Amino acid sequence: MSQQEQFSTRLGFILSAAGSAIGLGAIWKFPYVAGQNGGGAFLIIFLLFTVILGLPLLLAEFSIGRTAQKSAVGSFKAIAPGTNWYFIGVLGMIAVFIMLSFYSVIGGWIITYFWKVISGQLSGLTEAEYGILFADTVANPVISIGAQLLFMVITIFVITRGVQNGIEKTNKIMMPALFILFIILVVRSITLDGASAGVSFLFQPDLSKVTSNTILEAMGQSFFTLSVGVTGMITYSAYLSKEQNMPKSALSIVAMNIMVVILAGLVIFPAVFAFGMEPDAGPVLLFNVLPTIFSQMPFGMLFFATFLVVFLFATLTSAFSMLEIIVAVLSKGNPAKRKKWAWIIGLAIFLFGVPSALSFGVLSDISLFGKSIFDLADYTVSNVLMPIGALQISIFVSFKMKKSALYEELKRGSNLKYGVFQAWFFLIRYVVPVLIIVVMVDAISK
Ligand code: PFF
Repeated sequence: MSQQEQFSTRLGFILSAAGSAIGLGAIWKFPYVAGQNGGGAFLIIFLLFTVILGLPLLLAEFSIGRTAQKSAVGSFKAIAPGTNWYFIGVLGMIAVFIMLSFYSVIGGWIITYFWKVISGQLSGLTEAEYGILFADTVANPVISIGAQLLFMVITIFVITRGVQNGIEKTNKIMMPALFILFIILVVRSITLDGASAGVSFLFQPDLSKVTSNTILEAMGQSFFTLSVGVTGMITYSAYLSKEQNMPKSALSIVAMNIMVVILAGLVIFPAVFAFGMEPDAGPVLLFNVLPTIFSQMPFGMLFFATFLVVFLFATLTSAFSMLEIIVAVLSKGNPAKRKKWAWIIGLAIFLFGVPSALSFGVLSDISLFGKSIFDLADYTVSNVLMPIGALQISIFVSFKMKKSALYEELKRGSNLKYGVFQAWFFLIRYVVPVLIIVVMVDAISK
């Protein structure tokens, strides 16, 4: 039996895992990627991948984590001793290290914008002025690096407090608050005059915009938003007690994730269309376009501040899980080591992220493979490392773990029917790996 800490309740686990899943992927990335890739068409492909790839992978990570009840690296060593499979955990650590380095840049922007809203600096500007303000803010090295550091310090602090007092407690407050505030925002957005064009943009597929890259992006997006492929869900499920129902938890997490993706689309697109703006503005959509929109509504700045709080909570709860993946491996359940490693790794991630933060300012001229440092970090993680990690996980679970033991593990605390288990096993053994390879090869060969 491991001496690891555990989540105190199933709700705590579900909210924490949903907290990991729901983040920049759903609220920031999805709207602009969908905006550039035909709206509803992208939504449909994304939903399809979420159900046939994301959900099976989530259950696969859960099975590994709870079977072994160890960290991402320790779990592979426990299940397949003397082999190199633990390298999947190492790859996961590298992937989230890079991911958190650019994630924290956006986290910093959110904090900066929240400060600007509550100190009244965002009221009454013109559309052009909002654009200039955003460009100036992200190009300012002191502000962007300072805010990024603050975001990392909050993340580190929560992780030093451990699973129950840090991760679980914070998620139990932030996630319900996120849902409530989100609903308020959706109601505001879809009741605007002219909102219906945005609603149809989100739900009506424009298939002419679908390319091989759209499909790779949609797959990357489905992994990214569910936090699968980089061992995050192995890490969290290792803290889940053996009596808890994993299939049901996985379904709830996927459902909440899809709900937030749709809610985010319903906040953003109706507002974008109601105010006659373009949905394909790219990564700046939220920071550039939204303040313009909010400033034209009654109590707009109050709604924008609310949006930023939702956004910050979502981003933080995902950041916790990323840092936890690495800290869990290095501290091996020892609380004193947890504190030390959380600070060391958290600050190292911050330093590694500084060039990403500067890629919107002093380093904006640097371009590698036609991308800025920030975009390259994002692309490498979402469209290369995550699919490769997911591929390895699907192979490990379905070929290396015993089928009967997997069924036993998934059946604990649930009454999972054998037929449903078989369907999952088929997906994870054949459909997931084949689809990942096909989509990646197709995108590379173009
Ligand atoms: N799911 C998060 C998002 O959509 O923003 C990103 C993420 C968090 C990916 C944690 C992986 C991870 F381990």
